[in-house]
This record gives sequence, C-alpha cells and structure tokens, in this order.
Amino acid sequence: MLFAPTLPMHAQTPAAPGPRPWMNTSLSPDQRAELVLKQLTLDEKIGLLHGNGMAHASQWQMPLTYLSNGGAGMTAGIPRLGIPNIYMSDASYGVRDSGANGRYSTALTSALGSASSWSAEAACQYGTLIGRELRAQGYNMTLGGGTNLTREPRNGRTFEYLGEDPLLAGTLVGNRIKCEQAQHVIGDIKHYALNDQETGRNIVDVKISHRAMQESDLLAFHIGIQIGNPAAVMCSYNRINSDYACENKYLLTDVLRKQWHFPGFVLSDWGGTHSTEKASAAGLDNEQPLADFFGPKLKEAVEANRVPASEIDDHARRILRSMFLSGVVDHPIEKSVVDIEGHLDIAQHIEEQSIVLLKNDNSILPLDGTKLHTIALIGAHADVGMISGGGSAQVDPPGGNVIAPEGHRGTHWQDHIWFPTSPLKALKAALPNAKIDFNSGTDPAAAAAFAKSADVAIVFAHQWTAEGMDLPSLSLPDNQDALIAAVAAANPRTIVVLETGTAVTMPWLPNVAGVVEAWYAGSRGHIALANVLTGAVNPSGKLAMTFPRSEQDLPHPTIPPLAKEDRGAGSGAVNDRARPASRYSVTYDEGAKVGYKWYESENKQPLFPFGYGLSYTAYAYSNLKTNSAARSVTFTVTNTGKRPGTEIAQVYATLPQQSGETFKRLAGFESVTLAPGESKTLTIPLNPDVLSIFDEQKEAFQLLPGTYKITAGPSSADTPLQGTLNLQ
Ligand code: BGC
Repeated sequence: MLFAPTLPMHAQTPAAPGPRPWMNTSLSPDQRAELVLKQLTLDEKIGLLHGNGMAHASQWQMPLTYLSNGGAGMTAGIPRLGIPNIYMSDASYGVRDSGANGRYSTALTSALGSASSWSAEAACQYGTLIGRELRAQGYNMTLGGGTNLTREPRNGRTFEYLGEDPLLAGTLVGNRIKCEQAQHVIGDIKHYALNDQETGRNIVDVKISHRAMQESDLLAFHIGIQIGNPAAVMCSYNRINSDYACENKYLLTDVLRKQWHFPGFVLSDWGGTHSTEKASAAGLDNEQPLADFFGPKLKEAVEANRVPASEIDDHARRILRSMFLSGVVDHPIEKSVVDIEGHLDIAQHIEEQSIVLLKNDNSILPLDGTKLHTIALIGAHADVGMISGGGSAQVDPPGGNVIAPEGHRGTHWQDHIWFPTSPLKALKAALPNAKIDFNSGTDPAAAAAFAKSADVAIVFAHQWTAEGMDLPSLSLPDNQDALIAAVAAANPRTIVVLETGTAVTMPWLPNVAGVVEAWYAGSRGHIALANVLTGAVNPSGKLAMTFPRSEQDLPHPTIPPLAKEDRGAGSGAVNDRARPASRYSVTYDEGAKVGYKWYESENKQPLFPFGYGLSYTAYAYSNLKTNSAARSVTFTVTNTGKRPGTEIAQVYATLPQQSGETFKRLAGFESVTLAPGESKTLTIPLNPDVLSIFDEQKEAFQLLPGTYKITAGPSSADTPLQGTLNLQ
C-alpha cells in the first residue's frame, strides 16, 4: 500500500519555548546536529528519513499532495525545535514548474551547453542564480547537480549533465553547488551513479569494474563533492553490479562514506528505494518521494531490532548536519521577487560563453551588417522561439509554450517546449539594415527555393531530448538533414544553427559553410546567439563531449533493447520500479575509456573532438615547460588574430606504460582572455586525482612512479605542445 501523503503529527507540533543551544552559530554543523538529535523521539527521527509526496501526482499514480509547495519533494522538519521542513525542487537548468505554480523562473543554458564554457565562474553564477530563484519560490533544497558522464550520447538526459570528462564535469558541478549552497539551499549532486542511459533505467544492471568506475563516473562525483561540499547525494535508479544504487553498499558505504568521507546525506531518486533493512544498512538516508520503505516499515524494523537504533541516528544526524551546513535553519525561506532583468543578463552571458562555433569556412561568420542585404532564416520555429530540454529538468517559459495555440500553452510531461526567444527578432534588431525573412522549412524544396538568392541562409535545426527516453539515433529528427542538404545545395553560403541536447551526426557537413552549436539556449538564448552570429561576442565555447561521425563508432553501436515485459520500466512511475526478475543489463566494457579516451584508443576519428571550438580570432601555443615537483605545466598562448578573444587552453597527460592505458586524460585547463597580439603565460596545476590509477586490490588510488607524457593545446585532438613529467 502506498504511504498517504499527510503531514506526520510531530511535524505539526508548534515550536516549544526554551533554550535552543543548537541555534548557537559558533558551533559546527556536527555539534549542532548532535544537540538536536538528542532531543528527538523515534517518530521524529523517522520523519526526517522520508518524503511526503510531490506535486506530480498523476505521473506517480498517487494522491496529489499540497505539502511540497508545488515541488518534487518534501521532508518534514521538527517545528518544535525550529528545524524547518525541506522543500525540494528540481533545478537542472532553472527552477522547475514555475508555470504550474504561478511563478517565474529563468532558464539557463542546458548544463551540457554551459559545460562548453569550461568556466568555474560561469558555473558559480549558474548555481547562484538557481539558489536565489529556489528560495524566492519557497524552496530550500535543489535537485540539480546532474553529473553522470556522457558515456552514451543517446542518453535522453545528456543535456542535464556536464559532458564526458571527470575533471571538467566535476570541476563545474562542484563550483555550481558551492555557489548554490551559498544561497542557503541544500545542494545535491545526482544521479549516483552510472545512470548513463534512460532505457530501462529502473531495472538496468550496469556491469563495470571497480577500477573503471572509479576512474570515470565516480571520479566526476568525487571531484564535484570535494569542490562543492554538497549537503546531499541522490542515488540513482539503476543497479550496479547487481545491487540497486540506492541499496548498494559498495557505492554508498565503501566509496562515499569510507573512501571519500562524505558527511552529508543520501536521498533516493524518486521511487529508487527498493528495501528497508538492506537500503538503510547500505547507507541510504532518505527515501523520496514517499515512505514506502523508510516510514512505518523502518520504525517497525527498529522496534524489532532488525535495524539498529544507531543506524537511524546516523541517518538523522547526516540530514540535520546538512541543514545546518547549508544554512537553511539559520536563514528561513522568505518568498520574494527575483531580479528578473539581472538574471536574464546572467543567462545571456553564460550562453554567450557556451555557444560553440564548429565550422566557419571562408569566415562566413560573423555576419557583416554593412555588407549583407538579404538573409533567409529557415526552420525550427526560429521566427518565434527556441527549444528546451524536457522531463524533470523542464523550466516553464513565461507565457507557456510559444508554438502551442493560445489557450493551450501549459507545459506537460514530455511536451516539446519552445521558449519565446525568437532568433528572427534578435537578428533583425542586431542587423537593422538587412532584409531577414523566414521560411518554416517543412518543405525542403520550397525552403531551398526561398534560400537560393539570399546573401546568406541560416537553417535552424533542433533535437528534442528528455528524461525517461533515449534517442533512437544521433540523426536530426523530422527530416531536417534533408532540409539542410537541400538548402546547402541551393546556396553554398549556408550556416546551420543547432539547438540540441547532445551530439548530432551531420551528413551535410561538407556542403555547409558554417555550423554553430547553441544547445538549449535558455531565456535569453536568442540574443546571445545573435551576438555571436554578428560578432558582438567572439565565440569561445569548446565541446564538453565528442561528436561522433556515426553511431557505429560508439562503444555500443546500439543500446541493448528491453525485453517486452520490461518495457515501461524507463518511465520512473512507482509501480514500474520493482522487477527483480529482469535480467536487463549493460556491460560497460569500454571501462574508463569514455568519450575522447575511447576514440583515441580505438583510433577512430570523431566528427568534432572533445575540447574543440573555433573563434573569430586565432591563437598560437608555445614554450611548454613542466615542473615535476610542483606537478604543473607552464606555456604561452598568443592571440595572433585581429579580435580580442578568450581561449580555453587544455593540458592532457598520458600515464606511464604500466598503467596499461592507451589514451590521454584531461589533467588541467584554463581560460585566458587576450587582446589582439597579446600573449600570456599560464601555469596550470595538474590534478593528482586525474593522474592516478585505481588499484582494485588495495581499493585505493595510486600515483604511478614514472614518466608522464604531457601535451597541451586547443583541443583533445590538437595538442601542439609536448613535454614530460617525472613523478616518483
Ligand atoms: C529524476 C530526478 C528528479 C526526480 C524528482 C526523477 O524521476 O530522475 O532527477 O530529481 O525525479 O523530480
């Protein structure tokens, strides 16, 4: 029977007068948590360990609850002691569900898009904005922080994550969480771990060695946790080497608690809890969104001595500690109106740093407003808006879905949602002297005729992705490849603007002059895009994931299909989650060779490599020196072109031979802004975690003594500088 979402009695008890020593802010979060814990009854402790329903009743086939403030989850606090309720909202690229709740949220560039900025500062602004908007809407916990590596680019949630490299993803998520939590919201990193595909996500058993997971997906989480100190980790739906993530002792206790000394709490993904005693012993602290296993059943298990009281104390202590750490006790939520204009500026600025210029033959870009007379804009509803990513990440556009008819603009689970960010309007404003017309692109022949005589044709192409589904392929949907091919055949001065959630294949690439990847571009995406297209902003983004030539080049050319009886297990609905009989599994035999590491080891040429992105200026790299004692690399970057620009310089390391590795690892990176002709010398420290290998016998990382080959340059496939580092 499902737990009925009504507030437990203890959570309705009013505040008691009297001294509250735990409110002494000079004590540590641990000390404060301990003082509260001593006051709690068993019911109050258990109350902290589960949810009380969510706003999305129909998807979850449970009664609607008003308790969650319109958000995804709610855990009751201890009002008599001044411990507030935890109100959780999804916030992947902005706060979810503002539309349904009659509120406003800013949509940022998708997480994957923002990862192309390679900017810790942008990640911090991203987190700060979300933290502020969460609190303004009455939430004190974020469910953002997606960090699963892009091991499977067809994964429908790729846009919610930060690409394929553990150092880049970990650095960015850590900085995001640090700044989110500074706004007094409980930060979260998810989905721990190896939830790298959506197909069968509730049943799939991921097979992978300890070494491979530690050096890939887990390393991203570890770096993120070290930098961001998140209060919470969300365990994922899938199984890993047989056990579900949310009852996986290796992941939750051996790694998270013992190896990493994580002091915060683990909450389950929604419906990702599968047991009481096993999950509790393995290290799950909080069940969401209900209390099927961590409510009455947990209490019964404690009373029957099947779960030790000390285990309950540990769970409750971790949650209380996290509340003190993030400041949600000392800073009660106050609903407010955010600085909308200020936040739109931030969203625009992050998108400007995230757009990646992939191709620019004969400098077709930037568009020159003094020379262009006619521009043919085609496809992807570019007259009215730009697309966004779906699922629990979905941010609602103000006014609703701009391509839906008036009166039907509400947003529903897995609708394709378009923001009212019109590239046509933005380009008209940026190029007032050009005649810019629009064609829908639904008829490729008509679009080609429309484009033929224009000075430039710009084809917009979209790829919608969302939670709960994977893409059947990396091809653009809806006949858009044919549209682009037809327009490019009619007009060689064709530029393609991509609005995608992951990589796409580009059969038309040799025939177009320019390609710009704009991702899911957020609330001011159109203006950021117009600024890049017209050169007001010099693009500097670099891909956080490889774009393959074809699915055949992926480690797994197809995602293993689900058996008939297992279909539906990807949706996440409560009654899909327990299929213990299912044998559906994926074996990640590529191991730690995720993304560029795979292509290098297999000697496969990608379409666009990891770390790649062009600029309207050019850079030269020179004079590499290594410092083995300091484990750092020094080199010079020069802007050899005519425009100021920002270059993301990358350093890779190939480990000594005894590592057995046939690929290089990103070991450091830095952005440098340079005026034309200017040079700067960078000293980049190399991250020791990234240089180490995981020893499965010792269950520990180890830095191998020996010679490390160091390379540096503008992308993983272009590293003109070389040196060595000798580590003892
Ligand atoms: C998703 C999580 C999300 C949760 C709450 C789940 O289906 O996997 O990422 O935070 O729902 O909406």
